[in-house]
Order: sequence, then structure tokens, then C-alpha cells
Amino acid sequence: MASRRILIDTDPGIDDALAILLALASPEVQVEGLTVVHGNCSSWQGAQNALAVLELAHAAEIPVAVGCDRPLVQPSLLAPETHGESGLGYARLLAPATPLHPMHAVDFLIERLLAAPGEITLVCIGPLTNLALAMRREPRIIPAIAELIIMGGAIRHQGNTTPLAEFNVYVDPHAAHIVYHSGVPLTLVPLDVTYQCILTPGDVARLLKIASPIPRFIADATRFYMEFHDAYQKIEGCVINDPLALALLFAPELCVYEEHFVDVDIQGGVSMGKTFADFYRMTGNPPNMKVALGVRGRDFIELFIERMEQLSRKIAD
Ligand code: RIB
Ligand code: CA
Repeated sequence: MASRRILIDTDPGIDDALAILLALASPEVQVEGLTVVHGNCSSWQGAQNALAVLELAHAAEIPVAVGCDRPLVQPSLLAPETHGESGLGYARLLAPATPLHPMHAVDFLIERLLAAPGEITLVCIGPLTNLALAMRREPRIIPAIAELIIMGGAIRHQGNTTPLAEFNVYVDPHAAHIVYHSGVPLTLVPLDVTYQCILTPGDVARLLKIASPIPRFIADATRFYMEFHDAYQKIEGCVINDPLALALLFAPELCVYEEHFVDVDIQGGVSMGKTFADFYRMTGNPPNMKVALGVRGRDFIELFIERMEQLSRKIAD
């Protein structure tokens, strides 16, 4: 089966780094580029992290283009308390030797999507600033995107950044509004399902049985992330949001989906950045996306660990 051509727009970020490693460990997908956006850390720091993670996984040939470093309208909001100042927790990777792609991420997305209309799936696992600007700059990319998968939003689940809003959408709700209403075939992967995907210390200990820099990176990065989840949310382990979104490219059966009209609050009050679904069809608007609302969380974690074990054996000490 031909592997699926993908671009990943990302704010790496600990769980973003795990999603990138999962993509590299999955023959069902072919990563054709990473575009980096502000979010968990600055877009510059995120780009350095993306280059370093690709080098760690012997995939430095994949281009990395850096993009927007602040939201369209909202003030900047980063997440050092969650991902550390470096964006990768306690992990310390060698400074990357690979140069960034010379194009801005917005132009890179436009170039690659128009060069292969209908062939590329876009996976967005950070704030949607790059994609929203690309859509405004070149609307022809909208029909060119084969499918869009977004990690973002909290539908029935409480927020993780405000009591109502999820980080990626809250950081740039105006960008999310543009993307939600663009007409692109869209699957949303919200906290409703990602919070059932907890990587535990036991899972990491299993990976560390393999002598490889991959498990050591995962252990150092997620140790910081687990400390955050324990301190702020009393969770033993850490929620790995972004790898779930990536995994649905080749294991969609892990989730249960419903089609709904989904919108995001940009009015600027207490519910700013809240993503909500019109379950009772009260707006009269037709559905604009598929929403993952059920998941086999431990089955996903098992898949993730198995793929990380395979990658670790390929990149052994
Ligand atoms: O709310 C979780 C999302 O925000 C994840 O993508 C995480 O990496 C952060 O970007
Ligand atoms: Ca992310």
C-alpha cells in the first residue's frame, strides 16, 4: 500500500516530538516536511527542536520551515510550565547541524500543497496561525488539501488552558475560526479523546530496556511533562495528544467519530477559544467536520510503544 504523503504543522513541544517520532516509525506515512509555529515555545526554538529530533531519528533530509511567531490577533502565549523553557522538557539534544528550509512556513505550505493538489494530508498539532495565513494568502490551497487532521479543541471535555478552552485553539482562536470555516475536509482530535491516552512511567520503563538514544530522549522529555501533569492535574503519567492525531492517519479505527457543525468562540469573554459542537443541529448549519469523541486509549498507547520499540531497535547505540 502506498504510504500517505503528509506535512506536519507543529509547535515542538514534547508531545509534538513524540508525534514526529511516530510518523518516522510508521511506513504508512511519508513525512514531506515540517512547518513550525509558535505555541509550546517560540517558533524559532520549536524549529531548532524539530531539526534536532529529525537528526536524532536519522531523518535530517526532511525539510523544516519556520513560520509565525505570534497569533493573528491575541497576545503571545507560550507553555514553558508544560514543556520547559527548551520546549523538550529535560531532554538535551545536540544543537542541530541541519539548516532550516529557506522559505517561511506559510509559503512552504502553499508551494507544497499547490505542487501536489489532492495528494497531501496536513496534520496540524499546534496553533493554526500558519495554516490560517496560508489560506488567506493563497485560497487555492483549500481545495488542494486532501485531508486535514487537527489536534485541538475540547468539546464535552474541560479545557486545559482555561476551564473551557484547549491550548492550540485558545492561543490563536481567530486562526482556528478561519480553518474551521474553510470547507477543508477536517477531522478534529480534541481533548475528549486525547485525555484517555496517558503514557505512564511503566510504558517509558519498557522502552528504556532498549539501548538507544530514542528511549532516553522520550524518558527525559516526558519526565518533565509527567511532573507537570502530576502537579497541575493529578495525573500519573502524561497526556500524549499529538501522537494520537498522527496515529489516526493509519489506525482510524482507534477512535469513534461523529459529524457535527463545530465553531469556536472569538467574542473575547470567559469562553474565548472554546470549541463547541452543535449536537442538536440548532444552528441549522451543516456539519463542517468529523470529531473524534471515543477512543481505545490503551490500544493507542500500546501501538505507540510498539512503534517506538521498532524505531529504537533501528537506531540503537
Ligand atoms: O492542548 C494540547 C495541545 O497543545 C498539544 O498539541 C500540545 O503540544 C500543545 O500544542
Ligand atoms: Ca502541539
